[in-house]
Amino acid sequence: MGSLVVVGTGISSVAQTTLEARGHMEQADKLLYVVADPVTETWIRRLNLSAESLEDCYQDGQHRGLAYQAMTDRILEWVRKDDTRVCAVFYGHPGVFVRPSHASIRQALEEGFEARMLPGISAEDCLFADLGFDPAVRGCQTFEATDFLLRKPRFDPVCHVILWQIGVIGDATYSSEGNYREDGLPVLREELLKHYPASHEIFVYAASQFSIAKPIIQRMPLEELGRSTIPTIATLYVPPHGEGVSDPEMVKRLGMEDPLRASA
Ligand SMILES: C[S@@+](CC[C@H](N)C(=O)[O-])C[C@H]1O[C@@H](n2cnc3c(N)ncnc32)[C@H](O)[C@@H]1O
Repeated sequence: MGSLVVVGTGISSVAQTTLEARGHMEQADKLLYVVADPVTETWIRRLNLSAESLEDCYQDGQHRGLAYQAMTDRILEWVRKDDTRVCAVFYGHPGVFVRPSHASIRQALEEGFEARMLPGISAEDCLFADLGFDPAVRGCQTFEATDFLLRKPRFDPVCHVILWQIGVIGDATYSSEGNYREDGLPVLREELLKHYPASHEIFVYAASQFSIAKPIIQRMPLEELGRSTIPTIATLYVPPHGEGVSDPEMVKRLGMEDPLRASA
C-alpha cells in the first residue's frame, strides 16, 4: 500500500532540514520536490535518485492555484502506485503557506492511504531569530498580505504583526522571472497608516537561503514602505505600537496583584 510523508527543507539551504525529514527523503521510493534554491535541489537529487521536481506544474502567467492542483494530482498519482512510499518536499515548513502539501495529505487520507506531515523551519521561525523578538511577549498575529487587504481581519497593533507574501500582493499568477505587480505595497502602506503613525518603524525581511550569508533586513519608517524595491520573497514585520493594558478585574480574579506572580 502506498504512503505519503510531506517534509520541509527549512529556509537556509540543506542546513535546516531535520534529521527525521532527511531520513524520509533518503528512504522514499519516490521523492517529489519544490524548493527555492539550486543548492538544495542538487543536494536532493544526490540524496535520492528518484527525485523529481514539481516546478513544471507552474506555467508562466497562469493562476498559481492551478499549479497547486497539478502538484497535488502528481503527488497522488505516485501514492496510488502499488507500495510506493512517496516523500513530497517543500521549502520552509511544508505546512506553512503551502496548499498542495495539506491538499495531498487530505486526499491521500480520504483514499485510505497513510499520510502525514513533518514540521520544518519556516521563514517566520527565522524572522524571530534574526529580528530578535519573542512572539509570546505581546502576542503575534500572522496574515497573508493580500488576504489582509481583502478581508480586513480585526487585528491589534499592540501585538507583533507579520505579513507574508508582500512581494506578490494582488497577483495570483506565476512568473518564472519573478515579475509581479508592484502596485500592492503602496496600498498596504495606506491601509497600515490607518493603524500606525507614519514614523512607525517596520522591517522588510528576507531570511538568508545560505548559512554563510546574512539575512536582508530593510528597516524603515512605515511611510517609506513601497517607495523602494524589495526582495520578492520578503516578509514584513510590524513591531507593536502602543502599550497593552491589563484588565484590572482579571488581574484581581487571577490573583496576580503580586508582582512576582505577574512576571512568572
Ligand atoms: C509560498 S510561501 C512559502 C513559505 C514557506 N513554506 C515557509 O515555511 O516559510 C512564500 C512566502 O514565504 C515567505 N518567505 C519565503 N522565503 C522567505 C525568506 N527567505 N525570507 C523571508 N520570507 C520568506 C514570504 O512571505 C513569501 O512570500
